[in-house]
Amino acid sequence: MENAKKQTLCSVVSNVEVMPGVHLMWIEAPNIAGSVLPGQFITVRCGGFTLRRPLSVHQVSSREIALLFKVTGNGTLWLSQRQKRDRIDILGPLGKGFSIEPGAKNLLLLAGGIGIAPLAFLTQYASSRHQMTLIHGASTAAQLYTERCQPTAINYQGVQFITITEDGSIGKKGMATDILPDFLDRADQVYACGPADMYKAMAEMSQRAKQSNLKLRKCQVSLEVRMGCGFGACYGCTINTKKGLKQVCRDGPVFELNDIIWQEVRI
Ligand code: FES
Repeated sequence: MENAKKQTLCSVVSNVEVMPGVHLMWIEAPNIAGSVLPGQFITVRCGGFTLRRPLSVHQVSSREIALLFKVTGNGTLWLSQRQKRDRIDILGPLGKGFSIEPGAKNLLLLAGGIGIAPLAFLTQYASSRHQMTLIHGASTAAQLYTERCQPTAINYQGVQFITITEDGSIGKKGMATDILPDFLDRADQVYACGPADMYKAMAEMSQRAKQSNLKLRKCQVSLEVRMGCGFGACYGCTINTKKGLKQVCRDGPVFELNDIIWQEVRI
């Protein structure tokens, strides 16, 4: 079904730097809050920049949505400087998000760094009959999503958190993909959001394990690519997949891991 996307001027409710260079911003957007699904995104007009910035929705409450974003350039820097009651121009919800199969019970979520953003929304959306394990990897403890990310609408009860850092400052030492195989057996479905290198490592793991029962064959990943329009008009986000050319903004950003031709993806 086509998204009921809308362009709206919305008020900033709060904006807090929750980790170095990472902001949690709540925005009053009742229409989006009432219709957005986990993995979908919005685009934000950032100051005078022509290209809108795509950002996945991180949480929702009855009238508000939250964005969790990293300052990576002038556009997100502008956004990070918005204050309470400032108005920002947003468009959404856009794209196709994560899906949970009717029979799936055990969900395994893998977040690399800021990739926690849409997966947190998935934990909020899943029902109490789902058991969830969320592996969160980051370079160091300061970049791990923690209870500092307040205010939150998420009740994390029932979610088992596993943390891993590259420098070993908290949790195990290593990459999220290092411990992924330990959790696959119990998973009915796997969801991931993180950097391209993480996905490529998962795809290789999946190829190597073709003869075994690894669940990476049922893995949905959220792609982050440069976008123009954000809704299928400019073809600026086209990628080649095993099912033909796809537009990340309209056909994704969530794809099956094994549908992507990773050798051709430049993100
Ligand atoms: Fe324009 Fe995807 S960004 S088609």
